[in-house]
Amino acid sequence: MRHGKEKMPRFQLPHPTKRMTTATFPTVRRQFDRRVVAAVREGLSAPRKRLPAWLFYDEAGSRLFDAITELPEYYLTRTERGILAAHGAEMVARAAGDRQLRVAELGAGSADKTRLLLRAVVAMQGMAVYEPIDVSASALHAARVRIEREITGVTVAPRVMDYTDGDGGRLTLGPVEEHERRLVLYIGSSIGNFEPAQAKQLLRRLRVGLRAGDSVLLGVDLIKAEAPMVAAYNDAEGVTAAFNRNLLARLNRELGAEFDAEGFAHRAVWNGAESRIEMHLVSDRKQRVHMGALDLTVEFAAGESIHTENSYKYGPGQTETLLAEARFQAEATWTDPRGWFAVCLGRAI
Ligand code: AVJ
Repeated sequence: MRHGKEKMPRFQLPHPTKRMTTATFPTVRRQFDRRVVAAVREGLSAPRKRLPAWLFYDEAGSRLFDAITELPEYYLTRTERGILAAHGAEMVARAAGDRQLRVAELGAGSADKTRLLLRAVVAMQGMAVYEPIDVSASALHAARVRIEREITGVTVAPRVMDYTDGDGGRLTLGPVEEHERRLVLYIGSSIGNFEPAQAKQLLRRLRVGLRAGDSVLLGVDLIKAEAPMVAAYNDAEGVTAAFNRNLLARLNRELGAEFDAEGFAHRAVWNGAESRIEMHLVSDRKQRVHMGALDLTVEFAAGESIHTENSYKYGPGQTETLLAEARFQAEATWTDPRGWFAVCLGRAI
């Protein structure tokens, strides 16, 4: 049973609040995003409240994430970039073997790290075809413009696809030519958002669209001392806190929710048993929040949390095992001098 009373039509106009002026809220409003509505209804009606991590990335959230990647505490991006800068040429050469390489990428976000690899591909074979895959057509368009402008020899062929959606999500990467091999980039520790079983599923679905000899380049964050891991998700400037709270602001903007984002504290904790950093938003008081688009009122006890993200960290050999379970042979693993992050090349077998 849901918390709210379901007597009003589901897609009616939200109750007006002080945030909704006629300027920002015209009488004829676009339909609420059904995927967002479904995820929020499900997550906030559950006994342990949760919201899916993909909800972070609206326009404001994507900008905040870009800011996170430059924080001193957020070692992931710069560590992986260092690994790709040092070993990118070897990575693409191995992936290619004696064939021509065609590069796809799950998610179109990690722009500058991708550029390093594409430059290495162009240096190796004179040109590159790059197929970024993302749910967001606008993110793909931006990536295309940027990359074609900045790297001569690269042709960008974007594909709009929701590769994260467990059952319904497609992950089909058209056929490649006989003389080609495909390399799929899945870098940036993006796989870290998935529980082990989901991560395996995702790689299995990816494998279905590949031929033996194709490969995946997987970037994973490694288990290390707790302090730097927690600090990476709890920076001194509060950018990660703003990123986390932006979820609530997004629900206010898109679903006519009435969250007081400041009434929720940002928490990042290491869950050693599950080998993951968890992010939560913790209600600082007993409160009820109405969500117009859902006709739902959610009650929070003081100290009750919304679990907003898991960020899994991998131990020795775990990446290789995960790849093997999806019919990829871990062919090489590169890491940084501190051993904080790993990039693993998995060959489809
Ligand atoms: C984009 C999923 C790799 O888990 O480190 C950054 C997202 N969350 N700070 C991560 C994130 C909080 C990030 N990934």
